[in-house]
Amino acid sequence: MNNIQLSIEKAYGFVAPETVAAYKPAAEAANKALHQGTGKGNDFLGWLHLPSSIDEAHLADLEATAAVLRAHCEVVVVIGIGGSYLGAKATIDALSNSFDWLQTERKSPAIVYAGQNIGEDYLFELQQLLKNKKFGIISISKSGTTTEPALAFRLLKTQLEEQQGKETARRLIVAVTDKARGALRTLAVQEGYKTYVIEDNIGGRYSVLSPVGLLPIAVAGFDIRQLVSGAVSMELQCDEGSAFENNMAAQYAAVRNELYKSGKKIEILVNYHPKLHFVSEWWKQLYGESEGKDNLGIFPAAVDFTTDLHSMGQWIQEGERTIFETVISVKESDHKVLVPSDPANLDGLNFLAGKRVDEVNKMAELGTLLAHIDGGVPNLKIELPKLNEYYLGQLFYFFEKACGISGYLLGVNPFDQPGVEAYKKNMFALLEKPGFEAETAALKARL
Ligand code: PA5
Repeated sequence: MNNIQLSIEKAYGFVAPETVAAYKPAAEAANKALHQGTGKGNDFLGWLHLPSSIDEAHLADLEATAAVLRAHCEVVVVIGIGGSYLGAKATIDALSNSFDWLQTERKSPAIVYAGQNIGEDYLFELQQLLKNKKFGIISISKSGTTTEPALAFRLLKTQLEEQQGKETARRLIVAVTDKARGALRTLAVQEGYKTYVIEDNIGGRYSVLSPVGLLPIAVAGFDIRQLVSGAVSMELQCDEGSAFENNMAAQYAAVRNELYKSGKKIEILVNYHPKLHFVSEWWKQLYGESEGKDNLGIFPAAVDFTTDLHSMGQWIQEGERTIFETVISVKESDHKVLVPSDPANLDGLNFLAGKRVDEVNKMAELGTLLAHIDGGVPNLKIELPKLNEYYLGQLFYFFEKACGISGYLLGVNPFDQPGVEAYKKNMFALLEKPGFEAETAALKARL
């Protein structure tokens, strides 16, 4: 089996190779601190050996639950927000047919999402879509108390019970939550739902390889064994004893920290396959929540190329020189489309006749890379041999490990997210939630 590859050479015109190499002791120490549990946030390291700890019984159990939902549902609603849905959506989108939502003869239930926003029209339209459909729900919330998913679950659970009866609903609802705490756990116990546990020491954004990601991915019909196996291979490659030179996670962490120090405050994750859009959304959460604190942290942004070359391309080429790019490149497409020859050649495209569309895409990628480097934008590249479960598993674990190391190099706790609470407190106060009386009064005085 091949491997995903990291290339950092195209950043060397901007940061010296010796400076990056000089990170060796610090990056190796940061990796050790993760493994020995001596760094900040060391109570949230459950993701570190998660892939290799997944056993056959767990996989079989997830597959059995997925089989029940697959057999009885036309649609499965995955309810969750942030780390409780992005990993599943990233994987399912990356592996699905681009027009999956239009397929009429389906082998797998359509997967839709709720609880990731509070858009009233979104929820209304979802309720309409689910009317008279056989649907199931996977409700995911580690805390079990997050407002957005809790609200969506209340609405959709009621609808499911009304449409299919309480008994059937009970069999078609699965809860993924804390082992003991939270409203979702209480509800699941009371109603008798099948449940999966999110371990205390796994934060939401590091949970894609737990049931949070694995269950929806299995329901969508993808091979969670391959996903886990890819992650295990990356876990081994970047383990405690891995030297800096051989540890791609440590190298990525080092080079992005050095770029940050040199004034490159924004990292743009680039893809050339629109299916990867949500991989970028997952990555944005991972790095944004992990590093954006203590008034520090690279701002994680993302673009889909070549689409966004026609919108953001100008800024990237000639705007403020505070950015660098990390390109996710897929070596082999799944399908082959050849450009046909046209005798009239009115569109002037005969120079492309006989070439694969992917060759055109690859030349766009190479041309953009060279143009952006000329324009002062350092480029890093992560190449996936193909877009499949195995390499996505490698990619997820690679980014998680690099994020832990990178956060330690930056000097922050990469495993907490204290800033996320600020909006919740205000929202509860404005909605006059019991217990928030003082905050309500203070906010009203400001309005
Ligand atoms: O990474 C995180 O911790 C967050 O994005 C959470 O996953 C998100 O806020 C949802 O929290 P919960 O799973 O408790 O509902």
